[in-house]
Amino acid sequence: MRAPEAIDVVAIWAITRGRNDCAMIRDGSGRALFFKRNTGSAYRALVTSAERRRREVAHIVASHLMAETFGLPIAPFRDVVLRLDRNRRVEGIACAYLTGLRPFHEAMHRPITNREDALLQIVVLAWLGDTDRIETPDNECVDEQGRYIALDFDFCFNDGVSILGLPKASRRGLEAFATPAAVARIVDRIAALSDETIARMVDDVGRAWVHDWTPALARDFTAVLVRNRDALRQTQAFEIFQAAHGSVRQRWSLFATRHIFRLNIPVKLLALIQRQGPGATIWTLLRFLTGRPAVARPYLSLLAAEIDRIPTRAAGRRGVPSPPSDRH
Ligand SMILES: Nc1ncnc2c1ncn2[C@@H]1O[C@H](COP(=O)(O)OP(=O)(O)O)[C@@H](O)[C@H]1O
Ligand SMILES: [Mg+2]
Repeated sequence: MRAPEAIDVVAIWAITRGRNDCAMIRDGSGRALFFKRNTGSAYRALVTSAERRRREVAHIVASHLMAETFGLPIAPFRDVVLRLDRNRRVEGIACAYLTGLRPFHEAMHRPITNREDALLQIVVLAWLGDTDRIETPDNECVDEQGRYIALDFDFCFNDGVSILGLPKASRRGLEAFATPAAVARIVDRIAALSDETIARMVDDVGRAWVHDWTPALARDFTAVLVRNRDALRQTQAFEIFQAAHGSVRQRWSLFATRHIFRLNIPVKLLALIQRQGPGATIWTLLRFLTGRPAVARPYLSLLAAEIDRIPTRAAGRRGVPSPPSDRH
């Protein structure tokens, strides 16, 4: 296990606030990094600090599995601690900053140069149990080389490869890249992984990259992937996309995708409460509502406040960051 990498921050641009804290960082050597600190996002009032950390760890493990085990063009995340100045530190995770990303739904009509890898990312993320994939345009992009790139792995390592009869997979991505034969080939590849192989893959990444990795986390993540491998072998959800046009299943699929955010809320809430336990969830909510400063601090978008306090060091621009200047 390695300690979080300390990064001396020279400039910082906020990318998102109010959800998770995301920023573009430039360090002393001119490197551009994408930084993320999980806040619990929309459910921050209910999300325990253990669950927030689990989502960061999910990011690290999912990104390494995709990059290394499957050879996909995903930037691997690691633990970092940003040194904003001598006294101020912010912990989170970071990966390489990818320049020139465009949302997939805007760029999908141009030629995508990694169609096979794109489908592999999509099906592997279903196996990884990513609950937030079906209709999340923010989380799938096309890079400067025209490659499809999936982002945002907070919700990986959740049980199940389908929700409400739909594959937990990008609807747009499946429509663009899936053929029954290609999906079956990927499913076969995942189905062939033994319990031991999955356990080793997960633990190797965790030990190498997660500073607070524990045997309990290794067991938890491995058990999800073993169950999801079995679910992938059995599910009919991917076949919805091969169903005859106008069939009841396809009509349900279209309806459910359109309304997935609302339909998905009780599913996500139940899963959250089940993992955290009802006691811890209610306790977190009460502490959030009563807002005692020491307790509320993790929810106060610490990074956003920090960014506001260093206007002279940021390049004077907020919102979507400009591409790093060393690109030219
Ligand atoms: N490695 C990266 N390089 C550049 N931009 C990124 C990178 N990862 C994410 N982004 C941008 O930041 C946005 C938010 O990141 P994301 O991980 O999706 O956070 P959230 O959990 O708040 O949705 C993305 O929609 C994308 O525009
Ligand atoms: Mg996102």
